[in-house]
Amino acid sequence: MYSSKVIGLGKYVPERVVTNEELTHYMDTSDEWIRERTGIHERHWVEEGDGNNTASMAAKASRIALERAGLTPKDIDFIVFATLSPDYYFPGSGVLLQDMLGCDTIGALDVRNQCSGFVYATAVADQFIRSGMYKNILVVGSEVQSTGLDLSTRGRGVSVIFGDGAGAMVLTRDEDTSRGYLAHSLHSEGKYALELAVQTPSNRVPTSKLLKRVAENPDDTSFYPYMNGNFVFKHAVVRFQEAIMEVLNKAGLTPQDVDLVIPHQANLRISQFVQKMLKLRDDQMFNNIQKYGNTTAASIPIALTEAWEEGRIKDGDYVIQVAFGSGFTWGANLIKW
Ligand code: UT7
Repeated sequence: MYSSKVIGLGKYVPERVVTNEELTHYMDTSDEWIRERTGIHERHWVEEGDGNNTASMAAKASRIALERAGLTPKDIDFIVFATLSPDYYFPGSGVLLQDMLGCDTIGALDVRNQCSGFVYATAVADQFIRSGMYKNILVVGSEVQSTGLDLSTRGRGVSVIFGDGAGAMVLTRDEDTSRGYLAHSLHSEGKYALELAVQTPSNRVPTSKLLKRVAENPDDTSFYPYMNGNFVFKHAVVRFQEAIMEVLNKAGLTPQDVDLVIPHQANLRISQFVQKMLKLRDDQMFNNIQKYGNTTAASIPIALTEAWEEGRIKDGDYVIQVAFGSGFTWGANLIKW
């Protein structure tokens, strides 16, 4: 058995910064409401013609991660790509990334677990490395959400929280099994699938019927993300804690032993609630939702990269990645750095 070591991290966000104030031009909202309810000050959104899409942003973040790892795309044995906003309905974005980076004809797996996507992707990649099947794996989270949002007042409960961006992590095989990813927890509860979902396009509706429906009703909202915000919030604060405790229990650790929690940046109030319940100090919790909004599957690798760049993660630290989101899905990964 081997363990997985993180040897490179990278992030990329589009240049365009969208402030809360800018959003007040499109919908009835305010900087005060958004800051108070979500903690968000601004987010980055792609703009037409800037060349950014889900795969290309992933490529930019990956090139940085690869350079920091001292590897080239030819050294990568496998790609795990987490996204809820793939470039195409099919094929997945992983194959586009394989081509953009110029990797060999390696396997590329798309993970469709929304906000928990990076937690699932990490767990999957770790299993391939532990078993000895692959040596170097690129694990990526990338999202373009802005192009799919309802920017009218009707969509304000959802649209103000989401941002675009990408994060990447290079994992490599290590002989020291006392380090690396020590535990994972992965969960789902599909009975709540439609509490946070985009329902259309869907193969449940023939395309011909769908086109007719849109032509007859241009206000069809099923193309936009729907979120039962309060309901999601209440589940999130419980599941975040459970997932953290599950990986800690598996490793025989307590919240006091944790050096840094990298929560999926869903809402600052969710992170603060979880911090309070687990009695974690401010320096044990990493938040950057203020600058990027909620970038779903990209939020953990973006935050992990930023924490590492700021020197917040040192050798031997216990770090936890934890997420909850659409599905519902949730989970956590515990790593000894
Ligand atoms: O990342 C994946 C998982 N997602 C999450 O974890 C998100 C979880 N949910 C949330 O973060 C929060 O529920 C939201 C930030 C989405 C909403 O915050 P909230 O405190 O739950 O607000 P609410 O939906 O209960 O709405 C409160 C009021 C409503 O007005 P009334 O009915 O009280 O008059 C909304 O219409 O705020 C209104 N409102 C807004 N007002 C200004 C909703 N969105 C906005 C807005 N600007 N953008």
